[in-house]
Amino acid sequence: MKALILAGGAGTRLRPITHTRAKQLVPVANTPILFYGIEAMVEAGIKELGVIVGDTRDEVIAALGDGSQFGATITYIPQDEPLGLAHCVLIARDFLGDDDFVMYLGDNLLEQDLAAFVDAFEAARLTTAPPSAQILLKQVPDPHRFGIATLDADGHVEHLVEKPDDPPSDLALVGVYLFDPSIHEAVAAIEPSGRGELEITDAIQWLIDAGHRVRTEVLTGWWIDTGKLTPLLEANRLILERIDSDIAGAVDEASSIDGRVVIAEGAEVVSSTIRGPVAIGAGTRIVDSFIGPFTAIGSGCEVTHSEVEHSVVMDGSRIIDIPRLEDSLIGTDATVSRSRRKPRAVRLMVGDHCQIDVE
Ligand code: G1P
Repeated sequence: MKALILAGGAGTRLRPITHTRAKQLVPVANTPILFYGIEAMVEAGIKELGVIVGDTRDEVIAALGDGSQFGATITYIPQDEPLGLAHCVLIARDFLGDDDFVMYLGDNLLEQDLAAFVDAFEAARLTTAPPSAQILLKQVPDPHRFGIATLDADGHVEHLVEKPDDPPSDLALVGVYLFDPSIHEAVAAIEPSGRGELEITDAIQWLIDAGHRVRTEVLTGWWIDTGKLTPLLEANRLILERIDSDIAGAVDEASSIDGRVVIAEGAEVVSSTIRGPVAIGAGTRIVDSFIGPFTAIGSGCEVTHSEVEHSVVMDGSRIIDIPRLEDSLIGTDATVSRSRRKPRAVRLMVGDHCQIDVE
């Protein structure tokens, strides 16, 4: 079994952050989103990874390298234009060969035992009616944003449709799929959709129409398509909820730490309160501040005379004299400061290298 990981795409809904970075590399609990998927893949025993890269290829390659940091090998497959998820399968043909594979959308984060999902497919493949594909579904409140499945009375998938105006069900296709080599015939047979893309949803429908079996599982845990601010902060919250305390940095006597908190080596907490779950990266200084629940502050940051809660602050940024920063995403090497201190809460999405002075 191989894996095809999709790390191209423009990330338009997370601008300005994604003007300068790949959406799959935005950190959640101080780890790039994409790393969680790769780690899950390796834990499931899949170590031959193909990664589709687009405009942000240099950054993705710099972050993942040859895969050895994950115990995997990575083959990069460039996609010159975002022509759809099924197009990714088309251009990965040489890498995939005739192996079964997992396709994983690099901006998806989910609470799912990938190993169990893969095992179930492999077991079903040994039966007398082997499936050619396996999909994962999740009930969602906003089905028009996703690929949607309708099931028959026995729970078999009947029909799939991509982002319908009038959704026939609320069961969305999660961005993790399993395929056998018949998908290659499907992606070669379909036509581009209304949005000009070769849709994987249409390729799976082609398999169904051609009489192939498509196995379904419904995800009971959480799933987040992280491409927007609110789901990204939600993902940060859910991952932080799972962390264990680990205080490697320095905390002075005037500070207090409550709940589960990670303070990386070289970080310093001075006269401050940290109320977990919180993650603080290496070399970051927190001085005379309050860091509230569900906050991740990256490496090499500075937070002085400020309150930060339910936010993601990326590497190298400074938060100075901000009475309250909440529900915010701050890019790398940005500065958010305030010349006069008046009590006011701010909510911000700040791009890399910006300087914001809150008056
Ligand atoms: C893609 C798929 C869609 C699926 C979603 C999951 O949508 O086309 O079927 O439900 O990923 O994240 P896109 O990310 O292209 O909007």
